[in-house]
Amino acid sequence: METILTSLENGIYTITINRPDKLNALNRQVFADLNTALDEVYANADIRSVIITGAGTKSFVAGADISEFSGLSNEQSIALAKAGQQTFFRIENAPKPIVACVNGFALGGGCELAMSCHFRLTSDNAKFGQPEVNLGLIPGYGGTQRLVQLIGKGKAMELLMSAAMIDANAALLCGLVNYVVPQEELLNKAISILQVINSKAPLAVGKCIEAANAVFDETKNGYEVEAAAFGFCFDTADMKEGTSAFLEKRKAVFAGKKPLCTSVSSVPLW
Ligand code: COA
Repeated sequence: METILTSLENGIYTITINRPDKLNALNRQVFADLNTALDEVYANADIRSVIITGAGTKSFVAGADISEFSGLSNEQSIALAKAGQQTFFRIENAPKPIVACVNGFALGGGCELAMSCHFRLTSDNAKFGQPEVNLGLIPGYGGTQRLVQLIGKGKAMELLMSAAMIDANAALLCGLVNYVVPQEELLNKAISILQVINSKAPLAVGKCIEAANAVFDETKNGYEVEAAAFGFCFDTADMKEGTSAFLEKRKAVFAGKKPLCTSVSSVPLW
């Protein structure tokens, strides 16, 4: 892939946006490559969880590539926003944990990319913001929605309308990120969290994502989604293993096996 580096180690797939000379700005090629990497995330059973980060020490992603904006018609710009949203929905709805390691500027589309991940860690040099109003624009890749979801309407409104940048500690205080660490510790911190998650029942982890995402999906009743997911788990070999291991006072070994009962959803999860 031209603009993205990937590696897979101990079940953790790292996706690095690699355009450091342009502060990893998201152009069409990055989106194409990101979608190719996401195909792999969905299809490859050896991938248990994912880190998304940026190349270099200055920037996670400094936004959509502004040089691609000139000359777009109304229809083309709507299509651009929808394509970006679609890619970020694939991240948000992936059945495996996807964590953003924000290693510097997370501006515009970069902040939107980080927010589409299941949770975020950041290095202490990072800056977050939605500066689109500086360009006569608004966020187009889900930023107006997810910023409100993550930090609340009042704070989100202020950031969206003022284009203000906030630092890593302010991002921690408002709940945009879960941890702030020195840059050299960022990936290791994410790996240590993902190693814990990867030791849990994979199908159950996937169902946690699905049920928590249902909170923000007005086409779904989150409690119904939760109950169905709970039932799904009862039909997995992992649930039998987890409960047996507890009763036998031993450590569970999860295989992430598909449901024992074929009458429930057969959508492949990993
Ligand atoms: N799109 C396209 N190119 C971008 C970019 C973006 N979103 N952000 C940075 N770049 C490019 C710059 O044009 C520059 O390229 P050049 O060396 O060929 O001129 C290179 O990345 C380095 O950026 P530069 O502005 O020189 O770095 P800086 O340290 O002075 O400033 C920022 C860093 C992040 C404050 C500044 O680059 C910036 O404001 N970027 C745009 C942020 C934005 O508005 N994002 C939302 C887009 S919708």
